[in-house]
Amino acid sequence: MTRSRTLRIALLFAASAALAACSGASATPSQKVYTAKDLTVGFIQTGSESGWRAANTSSFKETASQLGVNLKFYDAQNKLENQVSAFRNFIQDSSVNVIVLAALDVTGYDDVLKAAKDAGKIVILEDRRINADSSMYYTYIGSDFDLEGQKGEAAMCDLLKNQTSKNVVEISGAVGASAAIDRAKGFREKSDACGIKITATQTGNWGVPESKAVMEGFLKNSKDIQGVYAHNDEEAIGAIQAIKEAGLVPGKDIQVVGFDATADGFKYLITGELGADIECNPLLAPQVYEAAVKALNGETMPKWVPSNEGQFFASQGASALQDILKTRKY
Ligand code: AHR
Repeated sequence: MTRSRTLRIALLFAASAALAACSGASATPSQKVYTAKDLTVGFIQTGSESGWRAANTSSFKETASQLGVNLKFYDAQNKLENQVSAFRNFIQDSSVNVIVLAALDVTGYDDVLKAAKDAGKIVILEDRRINADSSMYYTYIGSDFDLEGQKGEAAMCDLLKNQTSKNVVEISGAVGASAAIDRAKGFREKSDACGIKITATQTGNWGVPESKAVMEGFLKNSKDIQGVYAHNDEEAIGAIQAIKEAGLVPGKDIQVVGFDATADGFKYLITGELGADIECNPLLAPQVYEAAVKALNGETMPKWVPSNEGQFFASQGASALQDILKTRKY
C-alpha cells in the first residue's frame, strides 16, 4: 500500500472519529428527569373512620391538585378484601405507575405485593406499616406507633401519679391494624413501672359510638377504674361520654388519654376532660409524592421515614391550647 493511501485512510478514521464525537453519538443519551406531573398514583385508602382519616385523605387530594399529580383515589370502606381487589385493579391499570397503600391490616397483601413487583409497579406504604419483606415496597412513610404508645403510657403515669390504685382500661383500635398493635405494645413496655394495671381491653374500632358502648360495659363491670387508654380521639370521646353519663367527671374521677390530636380532641383537652392527646400526623401526602418521584428517577430511600409528632396536655391550660389549635390544619 502506498504511503499516500495509508495517510488517506488514517485521515478518514480521524475525521469519522471527530464527527462521532461532535454528534455525541458515543455519549449516553440524556436521561429524562421525572417530576410530580409524571405521577399517576393509585391510592388505596382504608375508609373514612375518623377525623384523622379525613385529614389524611384531604392531604392526598389537595397536594395532588397542587403538584399536578394524577390521583386515582379508592376508599376501601374499611374492608381488607376491597383493598386487595383495588390493588389488583391498579396493577392492571397501565396508566398507574405508583400504588400507595394505607393498610387496614398488617397481613393479607403478600400476593398483590408480588404481583405489583412482577408488573414493575412502585409500591409505597403510607400511615400504617405491614408485615412484609421491605423488598416488596419502595418505602413506608408513617408514624412510630410504638413510640406513640410509650408517650401515652408516660402521660397516663403522670395523670395518675397521685393515685394509689391505677387501674386502666384500654379501648383499642381496629384489630389487626398496626396502629392498634403498636400503641398497645408501646403502652405495656413500661406501664407497670409506675404501677399501672391494665384491667380490661376491647376494640372500639376507631369510632365514638362503639367506644362509648365499650366504656359503658367497663363501668358496669367495675367502678374501680382510674384511667382510660384510648387508641384515637374518637374512642377517647366515646369513653368521656360514657363516663359523664355514669355520673362521673372525666379528668377528675377518671383520666383519659387519646391519640391523633385532631381539632375534636383539642376541644376535650381544652375542657380538661381529655388529659393528654398524643399527636399522629395525617398530612403525609407531600412526603409520599416526593418519595414517588424519587422512585421514578431511580433514587433509593430508607425503607421507613418516621413522622415527626408531638403531644398535648390539658395541663397546658385552655388559653394556650386554644392558641395552638388556631395554628393547626386538622
Ligand atoms: O393509622 C392511624 C390511625 O388510623 C389513627 O390514629 C386513627 O384515627 C385512624 O383510624
